Amino acid sequence: MSVPDYVAIGRGIVADLPDLLDRRDASGNVFLIADRNVGGLYGAATRQSLEAAGRQVSYQEIAPGETAKALTQTSTLYDWLLAEGAERGDLIIALGGGVVGDLVGFVAATYMRGVKWAQIATSLLAQVDSSIGGKVGVDLPGGKNLVGAFYAPVLSLLDADLLLSLPPRQLACGWAEVIKHGVILDCQFFELLEARFDDPAEPDLLLAAVRRCVEIKAAVVADDPLDRGFRAVLNYGHTIAHAIEACTGYQRYTHGETVAIGMSGAAAISRRLGLIEPAVERRQNDLLARAGLPSRYTGAAPEDILEAMTRDKKAFRGRPRWVLIEGLGEATVGSEVDLEIVRSVVSDLHE
Ligand SMILES: NC(=O)c1ccc[n+]([C@@H]2O[C@H](COP(=O)([O-])OP(=O)(O)OC[C@H]3O[C@@H](n4cnc5c(N)ncnc54)[C@H](O)[C@@H]3O)[C@@H](O)[C@H]2O)c1
Ligand SMILES: [Zn+2]
Repeated sequence: MSVPDYVAIGRGIVADLPDLLDRRDASGNVFLIADRNVGGLYGAATRQSLEAAGRQVSYQEIAPGETAKALTQTSTLYDWLLAEGAERGDLIIALGGGVVGDLVGFVAATYMRGVKWAQIATSLLAQVDSSIGGKVGVDLPGGKNLVGAFYAPVLSLLDADLLLSLPPRQLACGWAEVIKHGVILDCQFFELLEARFDDPAEPDLLLAAVRRCVEIKAAVVADDPLDRGFRAVLNYGHTIAHAIEACTGYQRYTHGETVAIGMSGAAAISRRLGLIEPAVERRQNDLLARAGLPSRYTGAAPEDILEAMTRDKKAFRGRPRWVLIEGLGEATVGSEVDLEIVRSVVSDLHE
């Protein structure tokens, strides 16, 4: 497994942005978009380093948070690009977490039928997950990520030092996806995390985690670029997670927190089906707890969670397809699970 060409990973490498863009043949004027939080921290420096390298830069900030991932926001950005004179040969750069990456990537995919784009991923979730695989898009009032495209950036810049300013809860959110990568596909990586996990904000640990997750996710995506088969393995923990998010109005928990609860549910199902020993489930849940993640939910009734799962985008004729584990690093995709087992696990997960 290796890191794809369009991905640059390191510490302090945001300073190399102009060179990295040159190496990726990404010329043209730059249209840099950040959310207000990230813009306040890194917007000016990013802009200055591009200008010092002779680029003309237009800069725009948007409101932070998931609500920005909407068609009203894309429309505002198209108007801004047009007013600023953005052309097909120019370059759009997303500076921020997964929200800015998904939104700006979608704008880049559709403005003038597609312009090049790059992203500087600033959240752990964005570095280990959303910056790899080329999925971009926005939400509709009727559901998340319902409009989008596959449109890979020319550069995903992943600088672990940018994670130092991330609020602890957002860091924990990313750790859920990191641990997921180990549990589904890489036992050795899981064991490395078990051995080294002490301070979740330790930059060299973060760097090692980002690198390994990128390798794992990129390998899965290369196998199934359009998400029609094995890529579903990345959905481990997400069947229950999406239902909890929907039933709690996307407010109570971060995405990663619901993924952690969902992983605990998927491991419990795997154990009840006799696929894993209780010790495997315990090790997974211990590591999630060490990252500061919950294993139980509240704020929604188990019956509502069950009902929401039948409406999941990835369900087949109203029945969820489960990603389960047969050991650490050994996931299986597409299982149907007896409703009584699911009901009992979802009810045990309630606080
Ligand atoms: N495209 C994909 O394949 C894919 C995969 C997973 C998730 N996603 C999407 O990603 C989004 C979630 O991403 P997210 O968790 O990064 O959310 P986010 O972009 O909202 O970032 C979380 C919060 O952290 C702040 N932040 C980000 N980087 C920071 C930094 N370095 N310092 C201080 N604050 C910082 C942001 O301003 C925001 O308030 C969802 O919309 C989800 O659908 C996409
Ligand atoms: Zn996820």
